[in-house]
Order: sequence, then structure tokens, then C-alpha cells
Amino acid sequence: MEKFSLDKGWLFHLGDVDNNFHRTHTEFYMAAKAGGALGAASPDHPTADWQKVDLPHDWAVYGEFAEEYGPAQGYKPRGKGWYKRRFRLDESDKGKQLLIEFEGISGHAVVYCNGSVVKRNFCGYNSFTADITDMAVYGDILNDITVFVDADVIEGWWYEGAGIYRHVNLYKRPSAHIAHWGVFVHPEKLDIDVWDALCDTTVENTGYDDVSFTLISRIIDKDGHTVGKCETSGDCSHYSRVKVCQSLLTYSPLLWDIDSPQMYTMKSELYIGDVLSDTAETPFGFRTISISADDGFMLNGRRVQLFGTCNHQDHAGVGVAVPNRINEYRIRLLKEMGTNAYRCSHGNPSPYILELCDKYGLLVMDENRNFTTSPDGIDQINDMVLRDRNHPSVIMYSIFNEEPLQGTPTGRKLAEHLQAEIKSLDDTRPVLGAMNTGVLADDGAADVLDITGFNYITHTFDSFREKFPHMPMLGSENDSAFATRGVYKTDFDAHVIDNYDTEAAPWGNTYRDGFRQIMERPHIMGMFIWTGFDYRGEPTPFEWPSIGTQFGIMDTCGFKKDVFYLNKAFFTDEPMIHVLPHWNHSEGDTVKIMAYTNCTEAEIFVNDVSFGKKPVDKYDMVTWEIPFTPGFLKAVGTKGNDTVSDIRKTAAKPSRLIIEASDNRLFADCKDSAAINVYAVDKDGTFVPDCSELVRFSVTNGAVIGVGNGDPNSHEEDKADFRRLFNGCAQAIVCASSQGVMTVRAEAEGMEAAEISIEVIENKNKLPECEAVDLQYISKWRMLVQLSDTMPDPEMQILDHDMNTWGICTPGSLDEKFDGAVGFALYKTHIDIPEQAAAIAFDELTADKAYVYINGNLMFCDECTYGCKAVIPLDNVSGNAEISVILQSTVPEHKGGISKSVSLYTDRGDL
Ligand code: GAL
Repeated sequence: MEKFSLDKGWLFHLGDVDNNFHRTHTEFYMAAKAGGALGAASPDHPTADWQKVDLPHDWAVYGEFAEEYGPAQGYKPRGKGWYKRRFRLDESDKGKQLLIEFEGISGHAVVYCNGSVVKRNFCGYNSFTADITDMAVYGDILNDITVFVDADVIEGWWYEGAGIYRHVNLYKRPSAHIAHWGVFVHPEKLDIDVWDALCDTTVENTGYDDVSFTLISRIIDKDGHTVGKCETSGDCSHYSRVKVCQSLLTYSPLLWDIDSPQMYTMKSELYIGDVLSDTAETPFGFRTISISADDGFMLNGRRVQLFGTCNHQDHAGVGVAVPNRINEYRIRLLKEMGTNAYRCSHGNPSPYILELCDKYGLLVMDENRNFTTSPDGIDQINDMVLRDRNHPSVIMYSIFNEEPLQGTPTGRKLAEHLQAEIKSLDDTRPVLGAMNTGVLADDGAADVLDITGFNYITHTFDSFREKFPHMPMLGSENDSAFATRGVYKTDFDAHVIDNYDTEAAPWGNTYRDGFRQIMERPHIMGMFIWTGFDYRGEPTPFEWPSIGTQFGIMDTCGFKKDVFYLNKAFFTDEPMIHVLPHWNHSEGDTVKIMAYTNCTEAEIFVNDVSFGKKPVDKYDMVTWEIPFTPGFLKAVGTKGNDTVSDIRKTAAKPSRLIIEASDNRLFADCKDSAAINVYAVDKDGTFVPDCSELVRFSVTNGAVIGVGNGDPNSHEEDKADFRRLFNGCAQAIVCASSQGVMTVRAEAEGMEAAEISIEVIENKNKLPECEAVDLQYISKWRMLVQLSDTMPDPEMQILDHDMNTWGICTPGSLDEKFDGAVGFALYKTHIDIPEQAAAIAFDELTADKAYVYINGNLMFCDECTYGCKAVIPLDNVSGNAEISVILQSTVPEHKGGISKSVSLYTDRGDL
């Protein structure tokens, strides 16, 4: 298997495209044929004014906020858009299976290859493949992949972005191969040290001949040693698939666990005779999971209470087009908080998120978006399970979130059906629904699912347990508490909420109450807090001009709110303490102080004067009210023999910026990114908690790809190189260009600037890019089906309804009409020539005499018996134009035809 990236070099058009459709009979006839797509989907569509973009790309994040777009999508416009990418395939690729994998497109997508639909996908969350094997062309001729995205349809009530917002890859496989997502490794523990790494491999044959094969699977440990092997032979007839089930005994493997997530790789080799035809590498882990109504969730034989967060996908500055390393930054923060679980709400995440959860040891509730058993819905479930079932981190599948039908017989049927689909592909993981009503219904979804997920509805916990004592229970969504970062006084008019854990949605709980509700019921397997990070859209508890939620434990940039430490106190044992608020108030003010700590006692000091030691309630924490005097506030916590402390100092006026990067080493190529965090400090380096200066970012050897500050009420642009600090913090997302060093500088008026250097290195494991070709191919021609004896009129009209005198011609080969014959052939096409177009280039015309006309004017005439290139400058030509080519053969043995591709160049430099 060969894998290439298709991330670079796309052309993008925002909005739908006028296809100049005249509704003639010929147009309908032609458009109804394979390869005949009209308008923007046609390979010939002019793209000179389309924007060049690289993926991941979220066009919605570029839009301006306006109230008319409504709260759900964060007051950003979505709309429709077109993408195009042109590339060549080598002659040696002929016969291979060619799949394009779209990791995620936000909106309903239709994918075309060379003018034919190859895939429709109606979900913004699943990864899917488009098979271009049959429509692909090879050699000199360009392949055109066009994607239409309709993001006016909605699937969520949160910001979903718009466009091709995840990576796109091209897979080339020989005709006898291991199917895409075709390996499933599901180790079973047989005895204390003995495991059977059961491995099911789908062998697929897309070739003409039946084959006999041998499949060798090997388990490779992290040092590259083989620790298990199995060899199986079989047959696969043409255009069919067979599933090969193998058993690989392994002794004492290192287990995948939350604190030591050990991974292995299944290496599969497919031989046809003695020839290695295809290989696949599948990362997996050894671990056991089980669930029960009394003991909750067990990992590797011991109880692990799930302490997780629910998360949407977007990040400040980049919308849903989140670079891999920014996702890693987010996952690291969640891990630092002590969470051990991650819910992909409410849809299948980017595949990289699951790689990260494997790597960092987070237990994943993988979630499906659409609760439907339509063929599309089943496809989406299949995509999720086939793609994700090898990740040891994935411990359960959620098939819905808060569906009104969940407590009804219809909901039960849908759940039963979707669950059965999942189990047919992976019966090693439990299935649940995240329910906010209907859990007590007698004939609803809860009856048939492995786990009942409770979204809030804590009042039903006990009645459910009484009614269904054998049903495993999980807090699938909890809390929905509010806080604005850096705010210590709730102001409903200003749309800000304090960090003392005072406010929650009416259907939710404060963090403290939510945690208590779960901990007091040990049979519940755990909880998923809504949410780890603030997200755009669904602005709650305020609407316009708020544009994002305040549910996050961190803001949209990943800046920690104080409640980060409250949750850390719940989820971690190593002694820690965090004191709030900041220590900048008016003299004489009475200030509410809280310590978020897992210590048993805490004491507060102001300028070394104690304000009392208090026992800490493990849920409610501990609070003081004390008068403000400038200086410093210190909290000291004790737990057994351990003492920890935390200090807030009174800050003077902002004097300089400090800067830090989420990563100090990046890969070159402007795909890899870092979060650059900037903070205001005073002359002594004390954080200035209310500074809101404008910061300007400048980068050498790289670029800013987005900015943010976590303010849920800010309407500043995401795509800029400047941003105001919000309560002292701002962030830029940057990418690096070439190997060496990149520097990022942050400047604010009246403050000392800050600069950071990041090493930029070559990515040796980088996927090769299947190079995009930036020219427009003119592929659709009509031709007179017979040679004529006399020179035809280049302006001869094609009669509508005449499908027979005029045939269809695709440039790229010799025309069989000329075989052993002499005479004239006429070829015609109509194209839109953009103003900036430089030339039309015929890569090769073959004829004893070739003539090219534009709008009846002769532009080229030459002898091309053995093939010649014709480049026709377009100095004064633009708009709709008729191109006519007349080829004459005077010797029966001579060949003729538009024998290579025809292209429109927008840049003379490319010629
Ligand atoms: C839940 C829902 C989430 C989000 C949350 C806000 O009911 O599942 O998507 O809307 O409420 O509290």
C-alpha cells in the first residue's frame, strides 16, 4: 500500500457556481453521461479566480460574525463551496486500486472524479473513501477531483465549521490487496500471561484474475521485535473479498493502560505466489475491558472510574481545521487535569485524536452523529467502527445523543439496529446512547443497549437503579457549569460568570455538585463533564453578542480557568492547591477566597498573616471572606506529611509581555503548528490579570494561521496577526516554513516585546505529497465522427439533438478515424476564458497539417506529422470562446488526433 497526502494545492470557490447552463438538449444529453458533469464539477471549469488553499480548511472561520446567522453556529455564515484538485497518476499506477480518503468534510459532500460522481457523503464527522479506480486517467493527462460541499445543511447545534476541514489522503494498492480499514486486531487474554491476538484481515481483489494468496501477520513490539506470527493461505476470486481470521499467541505483552499506554503493531504481508503484493501496518494494544452494573468499568481487571470531558472539535483562530499538534496540545492539557477519558461529542472525531488518546492513555467514548438506519446512517456507523476498532483507547461506542425518540419503541428499534451493525463489525466494545429522558421507559432504547448513558437527569439515577438493577450506568454528560476565564464577579449584563463554581445550566450541576452525585453512587462507571474546552456556537448562558459557550474548563485557546484546578483536585491524588481570585482589588474590599485542592486542610495568608486554617470538604472545597490589602495572597494545603502552596501577587501596571510555545520544535512545511501563548506581566514578572492591550504577532520563517484570546464575547477576527489580550492572555497559532529556526515576536504598545525561537526540523516520516498541478485542463470536446474530404468550416454549428454526427472526444490519444484514411477532422469545444488567462496549450497535436481557431480566427497552423506542441497566446481573448481544431491527414499511414492533453494556463511562467 502506498499512501500520499492530498492536503496541498486545492482550489476553492466560496458559494455556488453559475454553470452557464443553457438547458439545451445537447447539454442535458452530455451532462447525463459518465464523465459529463456540468459546471464547477466539470474538469474544464475555469478556476483562475478560485482561491488557493491547503487543507485542513474551514471556510466558516473566515466569515464575519453577524446576528442574522443565529447562535447555534456561533453567528458565522456557512453556505456552500467548491474545491478542486488536479494531479497526475503514473502509467505504472494502472491496475491499482485508488482510494481517496477524506478524514472529514463539514457539510454534505459530493465528490467527483473526472466529471463523474464517485461518492456522496452526508455527514460532517465520519471519515470516508471515494474510489476513483475506474475513473482515473494516467500519464500526461490530469485527474480532476472536485468536491461540492453544502454546509447550509446542519447536523449540530454548535459550531461545525464548513469545508474539507481534515486531511485527505490517496491510497494506491495493487489489485490483490488488504482492504482499506480491513485489519481488525482484537486480543483476548487466555491466561495470566497468555494472549491470543485475534486478527481478522479482509483480502480484496479488484483485478480481473482470480488469485491464491498467503497472508503473513506479525506482531511487532516497540523495539521492532516480532512477538507473534501467523501464516494463512487462501483464494480470492476477481472482484471479491475474503475475511481471513488468524490467531497469534503472545506471551506477557506489555499492557495498554492509562498510565502506561503500550502499543504494538500488526504487520500484515500479502503474497501472491512468491511476490509480496501488499502490506499494512495496524497499531493496536493489549488490554481487557469489561463493564458491570455494580462495579462500573474495569480496565485490565481493575476498576477505573471514568473521569472524562466531552469535547467539540474547534479551537481558537482555526475553527474546526485544527492542526494535529494543536489537538495534541489540547489532549495534553486534559491529561494534565487528571482526566482519564474523552467523549467525542457529538460525532466521530479526527483519526488523529484517537491516535493521541492511544498515546496519552485516555479512554474514549467514540460517538456517532446521526440516529438513523438509512443506508447513509449505516454507512456512517460502519465508517466509524471500521476506522476506529483497533484503537485500544476506544472503549465504547455511543450511537446517539439526546434523541427525542430515545424512550419510544421507534427509538428502541433504531438503537437495536445500529447496535447490531456495530456488533457485526466489532463485538468487543459496549454500545450506549447518551440519554436525557426516557431512561425509565419500558420500551425504549435503554432496554436494548449495553450501557445506559445519563445526560444530566441526576434525579433519575436512583429510580433507574431500582428499576433496572442489572443495567450498567454511566454519566455520559454532566455538569454544564459556567465560568469565564479570569472573571471573579458574575455580571449578567456583561455576559461573564465568576470562577467560584456558582452557576450551571438549569438542567445541569455545578462541578462540585456533579462530582458528588457520581461519587456517592459507586455503581455508576463515571462521568463526562460538559466540556473540556469552551467552543464556538451554542453561546450559553448568553446569546448575542456572545458567540461561544462558557461551559469549558478551559477557554477556546486552552487557557485554564480556575475551575481547571477544581477538577484537577477531584481527579488527582498528588497534593495540589490553587487559590483564587487574583490579588488586584480596591483597598478595603472584602474578597471571596477559595482554594481548589485535594489536601485535607488549607490555610490562607495575606502578606504572611494567617486568616485561618480550615478543613477542606472534598466536594465543596474551602472558602474565606477577607479584606483586601495589596501584597500577596498565599494558600497552603496539607495532606498527610505533604505541604503545597499557591500564591497570587498584586500586579503593578503592565510592563512587558511574556511568550511561550506549546512546542519548541516543529516540522518544516507549514503543516505543523504550535500554540504561542502571550501573557502581560508587570515589571517584576507578576501576571496582570485584567490587561487587554492589543498584541501584534510577527513571524520569521513561518506564518500566523489564526489568533484567539478565549473571550466568549469577542468579535475580533480569527484570521489576523493581532489580537487583544483577554484578562491578560492571547494566543497565536503559527506554522513553520523551512528547516532552521523560526521566531515569533509579540508586541504591545507601551510594553516590552517578547520573542521566542522554535527549532524547525525536517519531518522524516512525512507522508509524500501527491503533487497538485495548477492548470486547467480542457477535456470536453465534440468531433465530427467522420473525416471529410474537404476542409470543413471551423464555425460549423453543432445541431442541438444531433448526438450522432458529433461524437465525444477526450484529448489524450490518437483518433482511430485516421487509421488508413486521409481527410479532415473537426474538433470543437466552448470554454470560458478568464481575463488573466495566458495561453491555451495543446501538449501534442498529430496531423500532417493542424489548424487551431478561436472564435473563427486562425491562431495556429503547422505541420505536425510526428506530433507537435501548440501554444496559443490569449492576448486579447477572454469570455466565452469557441475553440476549433482541424486536423488533416494526407497520407493513409499517418496518424492524427489531439494526442495529448489541452490546458489553459493562467501564468505564462508555467508554460
Ligand atoms: C446537552 C447537549 C449538549 C449541549 C449541552 C449544553 O443537552 O447534549 O450538546 O447542548 O446540553 O448544556
